[in-house]
Amino acid sequence: MKKYLLLPILSIFTVCAFAESAISVSPVRWDEAEAKADALLAQMTDEEKAGQMIQAERRYMKISDITKYCLGSVLSGGGSAPGKNTVDDWRTMIEKMQAAAAKTRLAIPIIYGVDAVHGHNNLAGAVIFPHNSGLGASASTQGTFEAARETARAIRQTGVTWTFAPCLAVARDIRWGRTYESFSEDPQKAAAFGIVSMRGLHDGGAVSSIKHFAGDGGTAFGTSKKTPGFLDQGDTKLSEEEFFRLHLNQYKRAVEDGALNVMASYSSFNGVKMHENRRFLTEILKEEWGFRGFVVSDYAAVEQCSGKNYRDNVILCVNAGIDMLMEPIRWKQAYRSILYGLKKGLIAQERIDDAVRRILTVKYLSGLMDEPIPAFEEIDEAAVREKARKAAEGTFVLLKNEASLLPLKPNISVCILGPAADSVGVLCGGWTIEWLGKTVNPAVGGKTFREAVTQFLEAGGGAVTDHPDEADVILLALGEEPYAEFFGDAADLSLYGDKALKGNRAAVEAARKAGKPTVTVLVAGRPRIVSEEIKSWKAFVMAWLPGSEGADALVNALWGKVPFVGRLPFTWPVSSETSAETESRRSETVLFPYGFGL
Ligand code: GLC
Repeated sequence: MKKYLLLPILSIFTVCAFAESAISVSPVRWDEAEAKADALLAQMTDEEKAGQMIQAERRYMKISDITKYCLGSVLSGGGSAPGKNTVDDWRTMIEKMQAAAAKTRLAIPIIYGVDAVHGHNNLAGAVIFPHNSGLGASASTQGTFEAARETARAIRQTGVTWTFAPCLAVARDIRWGRTYESFSEDPQKAAAFGIVSMRGLHDGGAVSSIKHFAGDGGTAFGTSKKTPGFLDQGDTKLSEEEFFRLHLNQYKRAVEDGALNVMASYSSFNGVKMHENRRFLTEILKEEWGFRGFVVSDYAAVEQCSGKNYRDNVILCVNAGIDMLMEPIRWKQAYRSILYGLKKGLIAQERIDDAVRRILTVKYLSGLMDEPIPAFEEIDEAAVREKARKAAEGTFVLLKNEASLLPLKPNISVCILGPAADSVGVLCGGWTIEWLGKTVNPAVGGKTFREAVTQFLEAGGGAVTDHPDEADVILLALGEEPYAEFFGDAADLSLYGDKALKGNRAAVEAARKAGKPTVTVLVAGRPRIVSEEIKSWKAFVMAWLPGSEGADALVNALWGKVPFVGRLPFTWPVSSETSAETESRRSETVLFPYGFGL
């Protein structure tokens, strides 16, 4: 088998030196955990082993199923929250689940997983940190580390100990709906920030899940099976050399750094679904790189594979190297398929034992076996909000500043236009309270941009006016509507195209007509096409998706309380049609190059 020398990650970022993590991933701790896992495995029946390989979604199971099937894990899909979605409701739910697990013959706790990708974003009132595309613009990884560690502490407070993060995707085509989950188009930056995020989660006491292995951000436009004609879950068509360089290197580096869990990608590599790709899931990830944790499938991804029926697909994926099946709804069928495969000799006993050993090893290593419910720890919310605001301040990229209009003076009159001015939900983006996020009332704290600007100006002798002709400066706040995954795939990335806020066009027109110095702020998960409009703006700031504290952060940057330090982690194209794979970075296709920022 041809092996490619993977480029060592140059430490182009100072990856912060970390104290010993709350979850230590040292080799000796792995050895200890593996020995305990082996001792427990030796006592287990095949039915108990099959149960440990199953992850069901909370809405599609009864708590008593945990006892009956010895379930290994339960998840909350995006927006799936118990009761009134309070900390107590979460803890009560998970306490009941762990009590059910304690009734199994060997009392093996479940591990509960959520997509806490920028704070405990399923939880009402959560502090929401910037999404990864903004964090990747930051000059240092400190904000990324803080975001991850506070996310870990927040989920543990609710009894959850596993988050499906960080995403290590290298988004090579910004038309992809998950670009905002990627730290950069550059694999080295994605690795550096992704590994710091993983360490932050471990430091905070949460099991991380590096995802989606591999090539999720490199699919060719038009190859999506999920949304025909688009990208998400499509086919990454590359030479093996390029695939390793762009989409595997960061995983190898993360495995060397103690990765606990890998989530397989829905996407394919040259036509073969990653979920059934034994070469990568087993031969490279486990045998060549020595990954000792476990691989989880993505949400109901098994059914997309090439087997002739669901049972065949389960057998195909387990044999390829999937250790735990995230089968939210069909989990009973998956459970029976594992046992059928074992009984018929279609899945070897060694494969089942290996999968369960890996799962149990991570449960021991993470401390779950000794403490199924993390002790409740008070969290200083004000301190976390300040960390989120500082993280957001580091993400903003100043792309134009004619006549040094920025920083603004405190005692000016400002007219605020644009649909991104009046929604915290737009500042937070997808994966916020609901899977796709919400424009209106997303049940998180924080202020709108308009509220933050008004509060600041009125305190400093300035004013906000509704009449452009009375204003010294127009603040134009444009953006994208919240979205997630394939719902965010786009063909038209103009300010009026796919996933753009409906009010963008009118606001751009009104600002142009006003004929006043205009500062535009774009609140979006990725670059949008602004080649014409930017000509009438004096200043232009890319704010990404800065989170619940983003408005105060923006005010601090616009009025000079903090400097602009961000640099583009993605090339900014002139038109929607370019992507890193299909277009060489010719000057006429690039508005702002990768790494640009004033
Ligand atoms: C989704 C996503 C994955 C997420 C999982 C659980 O479809 O692809 O990133 O972790 O399902 O919500």
